[in-house]
Amino acid sequence: MAYPYQIRSLEEYQQQYQQSVMDPEGFWANVADHFYWRRKWDKVLEWNFKEPDVKWFVGGKLNITENCLDRHLGTLGNTPAIIWEPNDPEERHRVITYRDLYNKVCQFANVLKNNGVKKGDRVCIYMGMIPELAIAVLACARIGAVHSVVFGGFSAQSIADRIQDAQASLVITCDGAFRGNKDIPLKSVIDDALIACPSVKKVIVCTRTRTPVSMIKGRDLWWEDEIKQVETMGNPPCPAEEMDAEDMLFILYTSGSTGKPKGVVHTTAGYMVYANYTFVNTFQYQPGEVYFCTADVGWITGHSYIIYGPLSAGATTVMFEGVPTWPDAGRLWSITDKFRVNTLYTAPTAIRSLMGYGLGPVNHKDLSSLKKLGSVGEPINEEAWHWFKDNIGKGRCPIVDTWWQTETGGIMITPIAGITPEKPGYATLPLPGVQPILVDERGQEITGNNVNGNLCIKFPWPGMLRTTYGDHERCRTTYFATYDNLYFTGDGCLRDEDGYYRITGRVDDVLNVSGHRIGTAEVENAINMHAGVVESAVVGYPHDIKGQGIYAFVIAEKMVHDPELSKKDILQTVSRIIGPIAKPDKIQFVSGLPKTRSGKIMRRILRKIAEGEMENLGDTSTLLDPNVVDEIKKGKQ
Ligand code: WTA
Repeated sequence: MAYPYQIRSLEEYQQQYQQSVMDPEGFWANVADHFYWRRKWDKVLEWNFKEPDVKWFVGGKLNITENCLDRHLGTLGNTPAIIWEPNDPEERHRVITYRDLYNKVCQFANVLKNNGVKKGDRVCIYMGMIPELAIAVLACARIGAVHSVVFGGFSAQSIADRIQDAQASLVITCDGAFRGNKDIPLKSVIDDALIACPSVKKVIVCTRTRTPVSMIKGRDLWWEDEIKQVETMGNPPCPAEEMDAEDMLFILYTSGSTGKPKGVVHTTAGYMVYANYTFVNTFQYQPGEVYFCTADVGWITGHSYIIYGPLSAGATTVMFEGVPTWPDAGRLWSITDKFRVNTLYTAPTAIRSLMGYGLGPVNHKDLSSLKKLGSVGEPINEEAWHWFKDNIGKGRCPIVDTWWQTETGGIMITPIAGITPEKPGYATLPLPGVQPILVDERGQEITGNNVNGNLCIKFPWPGMLRTTYGDHERCRTTYFATYDNLYFTGDGCLRDEDGYYRITGRVDDVLNVSGHRIGTAEVENAINMHAGVVESAVVGYPHDIKGQGIYAFVIAEKMVHDPELSKKDILQTVSRIIGPIAKPDKIQFVSGLPKTRSGKIMRRILRKIAEGEMENLGDTSTLLDPNVVDEIKKGKQ
């Protein structure tokens, strides 16, 4: 059997779950045994959630790329590792076998070495969804450099913040990226970002769009030229760097309720074992299947379920450069048809937007290869769930609604495709190794079924974050200080009468817009950068397609004469500071914000107004000036 730790029946799920709770170390040691280690671990787990300090597979030595590439060459050398579909359906797709991928990763790893990158150095990657992005990620891992991938939709300012925080020494980018009918000038954005980033010594630019770029002498190099150099050296091998189990593998920045995004740190062995175990089990991957995850590698889903999970399992992973709605709303179905995709893993926001186009784009597409469907990133509403089930899965494919986070490294609560029960709107049951618990405001455990609470995890799992880069205290206060001895997810959750979990959304000031995490404080800071703005408050409201929309209440310096113009200015500011994904959907100019006497903005009231719930605003008597509420209600968008 390809994966001896693959769950094959409901009984096996129950057995594995029991074992993982009774004897977590034994359980994970059994899984980890099926990887390639340079040296096995001395101890499976050391932990406390106080500091926090969590170590898995202590003393183990390995390299994740030997597990994703080298170990497959004998059996899967000619098997496709990556099938790449370009943005333009007229352009040829690419098939990269495990042998090709191995060669390309070694080649580019040597490029990095030639440019002075060493184990532990941070490398920022800002590229579109092309195979070279996966190659760059794996090349970093090959030589022990820490990758920090930044999503192509972030602004120069956001990139600069991330590069400075990580003190990256090298950037890998493209001339540009194709996304739908857009051509995003990545290199030019990097040029703007690097004005404020003295740590960066080199920039490697991969050709994709042939957009004209300016290359700075001594700093900027073409990917293709550097590869030629390695070729003239005779393509020497690139032995994998031996990494400690707990050596840093990557940093990925994500938004929280306060301040700037934090760099979530994942380490080598635990992350690898967890990404692989959750991939193989959740999707019930079978050798030879074609698996397609529509996420972007700029987010954790792309890291774990386009690259590391599938490749460590020797799977064939489809990577798509474009967007689901271009050139038409049938693109995902065409790709499924074209490559005979067996598993399709996508986001509720994509499903909802495609639903809006009706069944025209679905008809006449052969979707008979599909066996399993998946959803991730935000709660999936029942309507979207059923549409996906009936029209895409034709009623015969299980749907896995996978709940997890950047910080968890991999899927935590989910059905196991075709094995454990599913229920629309529910992530259902924890995977083996995951011990969820619901608590009330004071941290008291809420037991029994049919209850609501804050979702926490009470025992470590191998894929969990280890720290936030450069600021361990922030990691402690954000995740481990709210409740004693628990990891706090920030999500609210219902456990129904059957014991199934349903994630109800964030309980902190984090928005989930089209599956992208955005902190309200971050958006407020960006809006406040606009010279004409005195103060702002940002809340989320239900949005048919995006899940949540962004509603901004803004106090302007002087009377706003042309509100449309001022709004456009504010949107531009937010785009420049964070990126287009954080642009408010609605802006309302107000003369004051509902504040308590101590000056705290009462977001609860603003949230209700944004949701259109004008009555039942609750007690407003503690407000400094209760009149502002009436004014805001009148001016609602
Ligand atoms: C939300 C994405 C409901 C949740 C992998 C979480 C979900 C945040 C689901 C993490 C789901 C993710 N059902 N909500 N299946 N999956 N979420 O870090 O609020 O980008 O805390 O990781 O998305 O977002 P992140």
